[in-house]
Amino acid sequence: MEQRIFDAKEQEEDIFEKSIRPENLDEYVGQDEIKENLRVFIKAAKMRNEPLDHVLLYGPPGLGKTTLAHIIANELGSTLRTASGPSIEKTGDLAAILSNLEPGDVLFIDEIHRMPSYIEEILYPAMEDFELDIVIGGEGKSKSIKINLPPFTLVGATTRSGDLSSPLRDRFGIVAKLEYYTFEELKNIVKRSGNVFNIKVDDDAAMEIAKRSRKTPRVANRLFKRVRDFALVEGTGVINLEITQKALKRLKVDEDGLDNIDREYLTSLIEKFNGGPVGVETIATSIGEEVTTVEDVVEPYLLQEGFIKRTRSGRIATEKAYKSLDYSYNVGLFKTSGNMSRKKLADI
Ligand SMILES: Nc1ncnc2c1ncn2[C@@H]1O[C@H](COP(=O)(O)OP(=O)(O)OP(=O)(O)O)[C@@H](O)[C@H]1O
Ligand SMILES: [Mg+2]
Repeated sequence: MEQRIFDAKEQEEDIFEKSIRPENLDEYVGQDEIKENLRVFIKAAKMRNEPLDHVLLYGPPGLGKTTLAHIIANELGSTLRTASGPSIEKTGDLAAILSNLEPGDVLFIDEIHRMPSYIEEILYPAMEDFELDIVIGGEGKSKSIKINLPPFTLVGATTRSGDLSSPLRDRFGIVAKLEYYTFEELKNIVKRSGNVFNIKVDDDAAMEIAKRSRKTPRVANRLFKRVRDFALVEGTGVINLEITQKALKRLKVDEDGLDNIDREYLTSLIEKFNGGPVGVETIATSIGEEVTTVEDVVEPYLLQEGFIKRTRSGRIATEKAYKSLDYSYNVGLFKTSGNMSRKKLADI
């Protein structure tokens, strides 16, 4: 997939991200309900000297799941061990991770929905009773042994809670769905990043970045980073509104915060499929993206912002989508592709 600087998905260059990751709940902007609940649960666990209940974090990419996993470990005063669903290929991989845990550790499994179900089953007794059931030997000689594990907290993260089996989901005592951020919250995140990197960001400039960030902290920080370059090279070293607008224009981020892939998706839906309804597989193929990318990364924001609707017969583009891309919206009356004007795309 094409590398997008507006991409909410994690990318290689993300050492930058690590450097601006908030480290405790106070620094973590927004998600107030989740934060306040976690504060209580963490405090109670510490008072009882017990591990925190297992936590499942879910929501679209870039909203702060990994960050929150780190914060949970920090606030508990525990060590975070990380693993990711796709990298656990054999039951032995998971058994090794579990049997190396120390009491009170937080085990973070990212993309937990991508763990095969036969591996997932190892987690059930581990989560419930801190026990590892493994089968040793083979060919008629196999026997099952139980190993006690130290008490630990599992934090699972997923962009697709629907893909999680219900036995696994039911074993999480705390389930938190991360929401898209408000402009005000994103503005605070950008201001905070300015502080971390020692560069002044004017309020109106921070708000401008916030508005064009797909309501996603990762995107806001990435835009901040690029605008910072423009401020340094072509501006005064301060992130003000003028240099921000100039930079955003050069980066081709439009006022709705839509990026190239969003626009391609909507353009395809409108031009090739008359605004739909059309199946997600068909759209994905038409823009050369994987279905999972389209479903997990592109569509959640377009749905949430009302650019598309999901119907039983497929996706449809809404009036807002037509307007945003400067197509005339008369599909309801004359459903022909000949009626569409295409102005805006030509000049971006
Ligand atoms: N609530 C927040 N306050 C401040 N910064 C945040 C917040 N949430 C996320 N960020 C910033 O956004 C970046 C992306 O967050 P993170 O990596 O935690 O997202 P994620 O949900 O794990 O994404 P993915 O699904 O791709 O793994 C981090 O570098 C972090 O600095
Ligand atoms: Mg993550």
